[in-house]
Amino acid sequence: PTTLKDAYKPYFKIGVAINERQFDERDPTAAAIIASQFNTISPENALKWESIHPRLDTFNFTPADHYVSFGEKNRMFIVGHCLIWHSQVPKWVFEDAEGKPLTREALLERMHDHIRTVVGRYKGRIGGWDVVNEAINDDGTMRQSPWFRIIGEDFIEKAFQYAHEADPSAELYYNDYSLENDAKRRGALALIRKLKTDGVPITGIGLQGHVKIDSPSAQKEAKTIEDFAALGIRVNISELDVDVLPRTTRSDSADVSTIAAGSAAANPYTAGLPEEQQQALARRYAELFNVFLQHHKSMGRVTLWGLSDANTWLNNFPTRGRTNYPLLFDREMKSKPAFTSVLDDA
Ligand code: XIL
Repeated sequence: PTTLKDAYKPYFKIGVAINERQFDERDPTAAAIIASQFNTISPENALKWESIHPRLDTFNFTPADHYVSFGEKNRMFIVGHCLIWHSQVPKWVFEDAEGKPLTREALLERMHDHIRTVVGRYKGRIGGWDVVNEAINDDGTMRQSPWFRIIGEDFIEKAFQYAHEADPSAELYYNDYSLENDAKRRGALALIRKLKTDGVPITGIGLQGHVKIDSPSAQKEAKTIEDFAALGIRVNISELDVDVLPRTTRSDSADVSTIAAGSAAANPYTAGLPEEQQQALARRYAELFNVFLQHHKSMGRVTLWGLSDANTWLNNFPTRGRTNYPLLFDREMKSKPAFTSVLDDA
């Protein structure tokens, strides 16, 4: 095979997160690669609360409609990302008309309305939803988001129930990052075990997969997939990319170093990724896909968080203006050695 989706057809779907220029085909080169290489898509921003529901009485469905149409036109499995998250959600969501915090009942009603409206609109068309995103801290405790503080821990099961009500045949996922870290993984495993015991309709876990060139190890990745699969849920890699730059200080990261943000040391490859690092990236992708292949019976899909290095979010995270190289296509939309190594791995 010459395409990722064909190479991996016997094992799992291969996906990519796409932006508005791509699904509107204002970037025809990117749109053509997406259509030929991938059989599932995720919306990089178009379905987040602030995009699709910017004001109390305003839904902005046009980009999301285009996203879904693009997926249908190309016969793809269409992912919805995401319903309940602490980020990219407007402040008004948690406040009444006077700017005072909502009561638990009022926030549940608002959450219900949002999920009913958004999931209901794409019923039977969006095949799987990230229902709750990033609810757990690095130490395995619950994140003190407004959702948690106002509603309590059961905001999670309520969100799943509302989503299931709105589209009973959609797959429903809990999605998070750094689940390879033991403490955080234990927290997520406990949460999902409880959801399953309580009969909450959860189909799968999304391991975001924002990994570094040297961590987590292949062994840790394998163990993480096995631990979640043992709970009887599907495991998806939902946001894969490989950060090749040195770590900068980041308060929520387990292994921080002290490289100053914005310094040359923080951003060493502005003139292009040296051949040695290019090959290291290709090996890292091969190593990860080998783990995924070994666990393909537990897995539904592997989705990359972006098509090309030109517009990856990692150019701006954790600090702005970096030149990162985390994906399979370069800034000129040419496939990289990492692409070939993933393709040939299957
Ligand atoms: C990122 C997008 O890629 C950026 O364009 C946006 O500015 C911020 O969010 N975890 C998630 C994704 O679940 O929604 C995030 O996407 C990346 C981290």
